[in-house]
Amino acid sequence: TGVDRLGEMIAEARTIVPFTGAGISTETGIPDFRSPGGLWSRNQPIPFDEFVASQDARDEAWRRRFAMEETFAAAKPGRGHRALASLYKAGKIPAVITQNIDNLHQASGFKADAVIELHGNTTYARCIGCARRYELDWVKSRFDSERQAPDCTACGEPVKTATISFGQAMPEHEMRRAAELSQHCDLFIAIGSSLVVWPAAGFPMMAKHAGARLVIINNEATEQDDHADLVIRHDIGETLGPFVGN
Ligand code: OAD
Ligand code: ZN
Repeated sequence: TGVDRLGEMIAEARTIVPFTGAGISTETGIPDFRSPGGLWSRNQPIPFDEFVASQDARDEAWRRRFAMEETFAAAKPGRGHRALASLYKAGKIPAVITQNIDNLHQASGFKADAVIELHGNTTYARCIGCARRYELDWVKSRFDSERQAPDCTACGEPVKTATISFGQAMPEHEMRRAAELSQHCDLFIAIGSSLVVWPAAGFPMMAKHAGARLVIINNEATEQDDHADLVIRHDIGETLGPFVGN
């Protein structure tokens, strides 16, 4: 079966780089984006330029974020996260490249510098002008007392979750590290991503072109399945559960 073959490929590999999307977190209760019932079926994304230009857009963005807070706060690493953390502790995985913003790879045991967050992190906020960090509790209490999304106390620019919105520049350091990791592994495993959002979706093929074997684990087909050495079109928790160590 696919899981047996995956086990062999993991055993044969020296350096494994996982690349994760929202599908690895759905079993923890956090919805993905493009499945039926996913976040983009409920709300249109708010592009970065709209967030910058409009107080209403900022208020809406923060209302949505606060509405998700119980879900994010309650989420615990799933079987996929824990399987990757086991391989990380075993020295097989140097770092995980993720499009996720939920902090669950860190919660599963990855050191912060071994989680390459291409799309940032939603568990804290930053000023979009001077990058000063703010905690969500601070934003919430300011929002509640002023009834609108707050600006930075240092420079006056808007405060936003520390995530990358559509139209916002990708983080340079993370992009560079993701490229290096993709080009220096012998097994690259894309897990729970529709692989349609670029430039993130370019890393599987970058790894493949550099000589790595490519595995795609996702419960629906992706555009890149034809290029994979192994496609496991199945539930992630069930597929990776056997690789959770002690
Ligand atoms: P998507 O929602 O586009 O894709 C998640 C994929 O995981 C879908 O193909 C699901 O079918 C699959 N999936 C969900 N649960 C699964 C499970 N338990 N087992 C197996 N497969 C499962 O999410 P991403 O690819 O992560 O970016 O989305 C990429 C980017 O689009 C996000 O980082 C975000 C979003 O807009 C920004 O906002 C910049
Ligand atoms: Zn500022």
